[in-house]
Parts: sequence; C-alpha cells; structure tokens
Amino acid sequence: MTFSRDLKIAPSILSADFARLGEEIHDIEDQGCDWVHVDVMDGHFVPNLTIGPNVVAAIRSHVKTVMDVHLMIEPADPYLEAFAKAGSDIITIHAEAGPHLDRSLSSIRDLGCKAGVSLTPSTPPEAIEYVIDRCDLILVMTVNPGFGGQSFLHSQLPKIRKLREMIGDRDIWLEIDGGVTPQTAPLCIEAGADALVAGSAVFKGGTPADYGKNMKAIREACR
Ligand code: DX5
Ligand code: ZN
Repeated sequence: MTFSRDLKIAPSILSADFARLGEEIHDIEDQGCDWVHVDVMDGHFVPNLTIGPNVVAAIRSHVKTVMDVHLMIEPADPYLEAFAKAGSDIITIHAEAGPHLDRSLSSIRDLGCKAGVSLTPSTPPEAIEYVIDRCDLILVMTVNPGFGGQSFLHSQLPKIRKLREMIGDRDIWLEIDGGVTPQTAPLCIEAGADALVAGSAVFKGGTPADYGKNMKAIREACR
C-alpha cells in the first residue's frame, strides 16, 4: 500500500447483506470504492457483536483493494495476530481499549500491517500525541461506535482539524467513521480528512447501481 492523500471512500460492510458478503464486496469495488472497511465488535467494548477473524479470512480473497479492519474490541492485543493472518491490510485499534497503546501499535506493524488508532468522541486528540510516529492511520469516530446509521457528531470537527495539524507532513491517513453522508463528508474534508468510511450512505438502495450512485454523490460533494 502506498501513501497518497487522494480521497479514499471506504464503505463499511456492516451495512451490507451479511449472507452475501463476497458479492457485496465485488459490487462496491466494481462501483469504485477505494478501501473495504470491516467493523469488528465484541459486545464488550461496544454494545454490539459482529464478526471475528474467521469471517475476515473468508472475505479476504474477495477484496481486491484494501482491507481496512476496525477493531472495536477490548482487549485487542490477544487477537492482533489472528486478524493479521486473516489478511488485514490495515488494523485499527481503539486508544481507549488498552493500557499499552505504544506496544499495541508496534505489534501491528511487526505483524506486517499498517497500524491505525481510533478515538471515540470523548477522547481528546492529545491521546495519541506520544504514539503518532507509530501510526499509519488515525480514525476519528464521528458517532459513538457500535452501530451503523447514527447521526454525525459535529462536535468532532475541531478534533479532525487538530489532528490534521498534529500529523503535519507525516504519511498518516486521517479517516472519519460514522454518519458520513454527502452532507457531512465535505465538512470532514474541509477539516483535513482524507479517508471516509460510510456504511448506510453507500449501501442504501441495495443494488450495485445504487452503491455507485451513492459513492459518486459523496465524491462530488467533496470536490
Ligand atoms: C460504527 C462503525 C462504522 C459504521 C458506519 O461503530 O465503526 O463503521 O458502520 O456506519 P454509518 O456510515 O451508517 O454511520
Ligand atoms: Zn468502523
């Protein structure tokens, strides 16, 4: 994976048809998504349960772009190797989900993956100040993690701006997750984001043509 600051659209397959994940991934990639965002939830760090490393491994061969795996699990450390072996390109952990963020981020890179750190809405940007050089990606949650289809929290825009400043000229993606729509996407880009996760806004309508149209609406709104 080479670094670039071009806009990345990363549909969250949390809003896809789970009985047809392979096909759904083909469809969003055919329609021009940049990354495929995979939400892993444990029913403990967040109040919902989704999928584990076996499902991530099963969808790996269907992903031709980039598998962007967002771990909303606590603890994450015991599972990093399994998610790396499952073929994740990026593994993102939560700053709030473990006491040794520096070590966890290093482990992700040691496993051969890009290392991401995510901040829930109440976590200040300074939480990553001393680990920023261990990060390839910073994910700002613009909803409280756990569910798709929630409303974008405008309170996070100053945080996105602050993180863009902190990143400076480092090769670190600044990704936004939660409530991203054609209305909110331009606010994120204006604040300095370069990767946007969108679940319900991409999968609404349910056909490949809808996915294409929905992604195009987000891209055009960001021009
Ligand atoms: C929320 C997940 C998100 C979510 C986004 O905990 O991390 O990726 O699925 O869904 P929308 O775009 O519907 O807010
Ligand atoms: Zn996510």
